[in-house]
Amino acid sequence: MTLDETQLLDTQRAFDSVAADYDGPRGNNELIQRMRVTLWDTVRAVVPSGSRLLDLGCGTGIDAAEFARRGHHVVATDWSPQMVERTRARAEAAGLTSQVLPIHVGVHQLGQLHDRFDGIYSNFGPLNCAPDLRAVAADSARLLRPGGMLVFSVIGRICPWEVGYYALKGRFKRAVVRAARGATAVGMNRHTIWTYYYSPREFYRAFADYFSLESYRALSLFMPPPYLVDVYRRHPVACERLGRLDDRLGGLPLLRNMGDHFLIVLRRR
Ligand SMILES: C[S@@+](CC[C@H](N)C(=O)[O-])C[C@H]1O[C@@H](n2cnc3c(N)ncnc32)[C@H](O)[C@@H]1O
Repeated sequence: MTLDETQLLDTQRAFDSVAADYDGPRGNNELIQRMRVTLWDTVRAVVPSGSRLLDLGCGTGIDAAEFARRGHHVVATDWSPQMVERTRARAEAAGLTSQVLPIHVGVHQLGQLHDRFDGIYSNFGPLNCAPDLRAVAADSARLLRPGGMLVFSVIGRICPWEVGYYALKGRFKRAVVRAARGATAVGMNRHTIWTYYYSPREFYRAFADYFSLESYRALSLFMPPPYLVDVYRRHPVACERLGRLDDRLGGLPLLRNMGDHFLIVLRRR
């Protein structure tokens, strides 16, 4: 099943409704920032400095601004007009308008782009909202130079913290929501985000015709997921230890298939 226009608009409205406060605890708390840095470091390791990047689902533009400060040129795209507007305002406030180009384009509309990029990244699950992941793969292949890189953080299927947390609360359906096949309605701010969950292997299958799999790793497997930031705030020392376990062990076989998100790196053949 793919998403129809109404469902795409549901997701757009959901993110529009939170754009104004997305830089606060909802969209950018300590646990999110920690995962963000892992994506930043990974992008830095795999694309040349100063190169051209495409951000899919840029949100309020935190990553785009960071990469622009590091000397990249970034085309920052999102399906939520309010998010794009926040990215534009951020770039303007930071004096980065010559390096960040915010555009209102969904991942299902990448046919509208005709540039060439050295790298494409997407952080915190925009690709979980893509109605057709194979079409995203084909567009990414067209937009990337040969040898160009994809770095995506994607919401995974197996998050032990989530299963334990919701099972203890007796919310068993919520505990296993990530096992769902096809598009799943996930509530946010009294709106609906239509979400697909993937294991890293399921995700890679959509890209395999054009891309080789370089690596993947778990994000926030030992560390609690971002919505449990209160656990982190009550036990910061213990949680930092768990974070170090993520850093050390998150790329190991088996463990890398779990976590709140996974970070996957693909190379254009
Ligand atoms: C969890 S937020 C992450 C935002 C940003 N990448 C970050 O790191 O803060 C998910 C983003 O995906 C965007 N999104 C949802 N569906 C999309 C689609 N079909 N195409 C492009 N972006 C989409 C949302 O508007 C939202 O900005």
